[in-house]
Amino acid sequence: MINSHGDGSSPRVFAVANQKGGVGKTTTTVNIGTAMGAVGKKVLLIDMDPQGNASTGLGLMPEERNPSIYDVLIGDCPVEEAIRETSVPNVFLIPAVRDLAGASTELLSMDRRSFRLRDTIRGLIKSLENRTGQPGGGIDYVLIDCPPSLDVLTVNALAAADGVVVPLQCEFFALEGLSELLRTINRVKSTLNPDLEIEGIVLTMFDKRNNLSSQVADDVREHLGDKVYSTIIPRNVRISEAPSHGIPALLYDHKCSGSKAYVKLAAEVMKHKKDDTRLPA
Ligand SMILES: Nc1ncnc2c1ncn2[C@@H]1O[C@H](COP(=O)(O)OP(=O)(O)OP(=O)(O)O)[C@@H](O)[C@H]1O
Ligand SMILES: [Mg+2]
Repeated sequence: MINSHGDGSSPRVFAVANQKGGVGKTTTTVNIGTAMGAVGKKVLLIDMDPQGNASTGLGLMPEERNPSIYDVLIGDCPVEEAIRETSVPNVFLIPAVRDLAGASTELLSMDRRSFRLRDTIRGLIKSLENRTGQPGGGIDYVLIDCPPSLDVLTVNALAAADGVVVPLQCEFFALEGLSELLRTINRVKSTLNPDLEIEGIVLTMFDKRNNLSSQVADDVREHLGDKVYSTIIPRNVRISEAPSHGIPALLYDHKCSGSKAYVKLAAEVMKHKKDDTRLPA
């Protein structure tokens, strides 16, 4: 694998997180990963959700998911053995299994319990660098799909990440729970990972026929300003059909409005370099 940042840097690690369920975390992770892969970036997607939706969305059947991130986190399997190629060009996957739900309890009694994922990713990069001689070991982006909770799995993802991408669904309760998420991010930043930043907030499932969607989008921009990506992801039936075919929407129908939006979003995510912007209080 060849890292194509071209600046000798490490891969950028993003956690896609929001403890609210069904807001578009997995769809966003899988489709920005696919769009990055399409422009030649090497992407490692880590499924940290026991539901395994990202693994399904990338075509990996439940019986094909061992070894998984669960085995890696509890120390039963070297990370390299858990990495799979996918049918998506340049996108590699460490899948999740249901047992990952139990890892929350198992990790609580383990050494460096909040750093298991960070140690895993850093160890992997170091070993790939040694083997390939490539900076970053040939990986450009690591994308972590988080579960809908703020448990030890999400804390591991936040402790491992450079930035958090937060999908917010354009619905009435969009901002509900956001302050709790921001508090968790700030707590992780002040205790476990001083480098953590909010990479960006992405508005999802926007329905242009619904006034409420526009009101929510305006409201979110008013509160969160330039942290909000300019690309808005529309509600689009092709996006919801794709996972049952085991392929990302971008491969299922690259011309649909949802896919086009994810290509734009991925470009925004890739363009944004780390800067000194501060987290909202
Ligand atoms: N832009 C969209 N248009 C239409 N349907 C969408 C869109 N984005 C996501 N969906 C659908 O909404 C549902 C929830 O999306 P997704 O699984 O990405 O959310 P999530 O935040 O990962 O959920 P969970 O919290 O359960 O992990 C899925 O059925 C998905 O196919
Ligand atoms: Mg999900």
